[in-house]
Amino acid sequence: MTDRYAVIGNPVGHSKSPLIHAEFARQTGQDIEYSRLLVPIEGFQAAVEEFRLAAGKGLNVTLPFKLEAYQLATRRSPRADDAEAVNVLSFGRESVEGDNTDGIGLVRDIEANLGFSIAGKRVLLLGAGGAAQGAVGPLLATQPALLAVGNRTTEKAQRLVARFAGRGPFASVVVQAGSLNSYAGARFDLVVNATSASLKDTAPDIPMGLFAAGSMAYDMMYGQGLTPFLRLAQQQGADRLADGLGMLVEQAAETFLIWRGIRPDTHPVIQQLQSL
Ligand code: ATR
Repeated sequence: MTDRYAVIGNPVGHSKSPLIHAEFARQTGQDIEYSRLLVPIEGFQAAVEEFRLAAGKGLNVTLPFKLEAYQLATRRSPRADDAEAVNVLSFGRESVEGDNTDGIGLVRDIEANLGFSIAGKRVLLLGAGGAAQGAVGPLLATQPALLAVGNRTTEKAQRLVARFAGRGPFASVVVQAGSLNSYAGARFDLVVNATSASLKDTAPDIPMGLFAAGSMAYDMMYGQGLTPFLRLAQQQGADRLADGLGMLVEQAAETFLIWRGIRPDTHPVIQQLQSL
């Protein structure tokens, strides 16, 4: 029998996940169906229950439901707990398992696809909302020399960092929090935009001079051409520019691994999406 999966969100019409998972299934010979579920803002829990009762196997959760998915899961992975958000639900007989593959998708894209090793580097993460929350744990696990979080609202950056500071495996990483402007005069090897500024077609208001020689600017968002943040980073001298398309495909591959026990090859899928 064909196993059923879907991406659930609002809006969800733009989602490339059905295309990505269809390619993964074709590549690995897995018999799955993957659709889109547009649900009303108040209707997340009911829609999940309905999908599950209809023998659905798993859901990818996108905006604005990742926090609700975290609360709905009866078991959560350590990655989900770190992110306090869930983008993957897997349905067992008794349980609803919640995981978060966004942050690992980001790191795999930067390290494996783009060939940029984060260990020992100085990293600035812009934003302290849901997207940034998912990135902190996986970024720390790569053992950068420094992970600085810069946010328009300083207290949110401080709260985010406090949850991780001094934790065993990350103890050697210097962790900082501040406003966007507090990093004036500092230089970073990797600057990741996890703010939602691009949704309003703007870039976060970062000070000049953040980009060290050989640095990479990475935007978790993607679109046709350069995002506003990547345009700004280019003007400010970032050497390498990357958008979040590869992250999207990598988080999907990690999801596919959870659901199907097979890791698909992401390269042909990233190439295909880049050529659309
Ligand atoms: P998401 O789940 O996409 O991260 P979110 O939780 O609403 O969405 O968080 C949005 C993040 O983008 C926040 O860090 C927000 O900054 P504030 O905490 O100060 O609100 C940041 N953000 C949104 N628009 C921005 C802008 N124009 N400039 C800088 N930061 C912005």
